[in-house]
Amino acid sequence: MVEQARLAVVSGGGTGIGAAVARGLVADGFDVLVVGRRGDLLRATARRLSDEVGRDDAVTAVVADLTDPVQLGAVRDAVGERTVDAVVNNAGGYLGGAADTLTATAAWWRANLDANVLTAVLLTEALLPALRRPGGRVVLLSSIAAQRGGGGPYSAAKAALHGWAYDLAAQLGPDQITVNVVSPGYVAETEFFGDRMTPEGHAKRVAATLVGRAGVPDDIAAAVRYLVGPSAGYVTGQVLGVNGGSVLGR
Ligand SMILES: NC(=O)c1ccc[n+]([C@@H]2O[C@H](COP(=O)([O-])OP(=O)(O)OC[C@H]3O[C@@H](n4cnc5c(N)ncnc54)[C@H](OP(=O)(O)O)[C@@H]3O)[C@@H](O)[C@H]2O)c1
Repeated sequence: MVEQARLAVVSGGGTGIGAAVARGLVADGFDVLVVGRRGDLLRATARRLSDEVGRDDAVTAVVADLTDPVQLGAVRDAVGERTVDAVVNNAGGYLGGAADTLTATAAWWRANLDANVLTAVLLTEALLPALRRPGGRVVLLSSIAAQRGGGGPYSAAKAALHGWAYDLAAQLGPDQITVNVVSPGYVAETEFFGDRMTPEGHAKRVAATLVGRAGVPDDIAAAVRYLVGPSAGYVTGQVLGVNGGSVLGR
């Protein structure tokens, strides 16, 4: 009997860090479902990563807005009867907004909480019944902003993931499922900053590191691959900073 590859679901896998995680997990022998809202972009990434390894179905695109509970059905359908070995909750980002009225403040905060917390909660909850027991893995992508501020509602939303991760790790520990947070510092070569980044902003962030460079998506993917891998079964409920030393020891 041919053994089926392990299955990972990576949200936001069409771009940046998520695409690097998907590529890395394919290299580690996983089939990967990448989830995001922009179908064309997602399908192009899935095709490119599958072509790279010469395996048609190595990466499959699933189009869903993970803030909408109804759209989680598409992810469940794509998983079908398979066991999910790893859920990598990478979708998210900083959403700009105004705080000049309470109505605007509420909209700005809700948008950031939806994009960064609800996306992870809904995807993880949707896939919990399918997670491998024992041995499943849940990873949450936070941010250095959760540990040192600087992003208003984005910082608060990412920090919320930490508290939830601790509860989820306690809930799933008896099933030998680990839950961990990866907290990136400044990572270039993604869509995260859009047109917000300036040469001065880049230089300031690089200068804040101890290693004198910006992070790249593969730096973060390496941490995710470790946590998802078989040697990390005794690591759970942890926050792993991958930030070039910009924030120390927490
Ligand atoms: N780059 C950095 O410096 C940095 C630093 C710290 C933390 N992070 C975190 O790392 C993660 C990845 O960011 P990145 O830098 O790779 O930026 P990115 O290229 O903008 O990736 C974000 C991904 O999330 C997807 N996404 C956003 N909202 C979604 C939703 N509602 N439903 C489904 N998918 C959604 C986006 O795809 P669609 O738009 O097609 O849905 C996109 O592929 C994010 O959580 C970010 O907050 C990044």
